[in-house]
Amino acid sequence: MRFETLAIHAGGRPDIAFGAVSVPIYQTSTFVFEDVGKTKGYDYSRTANPTRKVLEDTIAQLEGGKAGFAFATGMAAETTVMHLLKAGDHVISVDGVYGGTYRLFQKVLQNFGLEFTFLRMDSRQRIEQAIKHNTRMLWLETPSNPLLNIVDIEMVVDIAKKHNLMTVMDNTFATPYFLRPIEYGVDLVVHSTTKYLNGHCDVVGGAVVTTTDELSERIQFLLNAMGTCASPSDCWLVLRGIETLPVRMRRHEENATTVANYLKGHPAVKRVFYPGLDSHPGHEIAKRQMHGFGGVVSCEIEGGIEATNNFLRKLEVFSLAESLGGVTSLAEHPATMSHASMPKDYKEKIGVTDEIVRLSVGLENIDDLIDDLEQALKS
Ligand SMILES: Cc1ncc(COP(=O)(O)O)c(C=O)c1O
Repeated sequence: MRFETLAIHAGGRPDIAFGAVSVPIYQTSTFVFEDVGKTKGYDYSRTANPTRKVLEDTIAQLEGGKAGFAFATGMAAETTVMHLLKAGDHVISVDGVYGGTYRLFQKVLQNFGLEFTFLRMDSRQRIEQAIKHNTRMLWLETPSNPLLNIVDIEMVVDIAKKHNLMTVMDNTFATPYFLRPIEYGVDLVVHSTTKYLNGHCDVVGGAVVTTTDELSERIQFLLNAMGTCASPSDCWLVLRGIETLPVRMRRHEENATTVANYLKGHPAVKRVFYPGLDSHPGHEIAKRQMHGFGGVVSCEIEGGIEATNNFLRKLEVFSLAESLGGVTSLAEHPATMSHASMPKDYKEKIGVTDEIVRLSVGLENIDDLIDDLEQALKS
């Protein structure tokens, strides 16, 4: 089946018990045993739950992976994946990751003996020079949050295979509709399902997709041991969102492209970051490895922090809020919001200046979005 059909039918729908077309929410902590030592496939919802299973199978199929796992948040998914490692292991990560990922690595996992190097993954030589005897994992995020940096996945996977390293890719921004990292040889895919997969800003969730039986067993073990799983009702909300993912992503992209082109020509905007623009340094790679460029556009406002704050305050259709990927347009200030946990000098080093604004372009009428940007920029 093709992507659009899988988004609606994957995971064994309709349900086998009564033929419900909408996946039933098995809101239960525990399941009655048929006999001592004999279940109907489920015993306790931390370990596994039928609603969660439909979501897990759906995401796994959309990503083309072996198995899927649903978590309470994107950070719960990342935390679980990082427990595949042990104290003394070294991880190389792209430098411009989501602020919460940076915080988890630097401010939590370092205390447990993991070691991290952050770098711009745009050169084979730079990555290979950073590999040490204890390097175990390469962590990718492309397009990255908030500057939409692009990594050549094929190149990174080639290096990883040569050095026997595990590759993990955060595919939150592109979603499997625009990018399927497993087709390029990535070992594990992680998601914040809070974003496009859910698509309506009404849930927080995460997911992991594996590529081997060994990784599936390890992730299932960790999910159960650490208790990082998603609740049945949250899984249902993500499942419902996924059914419309293909149509939403196309419209997000259409609107984002118009917004990026509009901002590019505006005198109050210093720089625009969108991988769909010819001028974006990663445009050629993005064109080759993705089926679309996504719905997030970032830009740098002329006139310093005051002008930037003023722009954000004046927006009316775009709401000033964290998160992205929903039907509603959101604007945020990475330096003080999504990336606030990064030290100031690090933010400056990777280009997350006080004048950067991240726009999650929603599904409203594009003329209303442009009018809103126009009046806010004019101010
Ligand atoms: C790229 C990316 N990865 C991971 C996360 C973390 O996900 P969550 O907020 O669901 O824990 C986010 C959240 O903004 C994100 O943007």
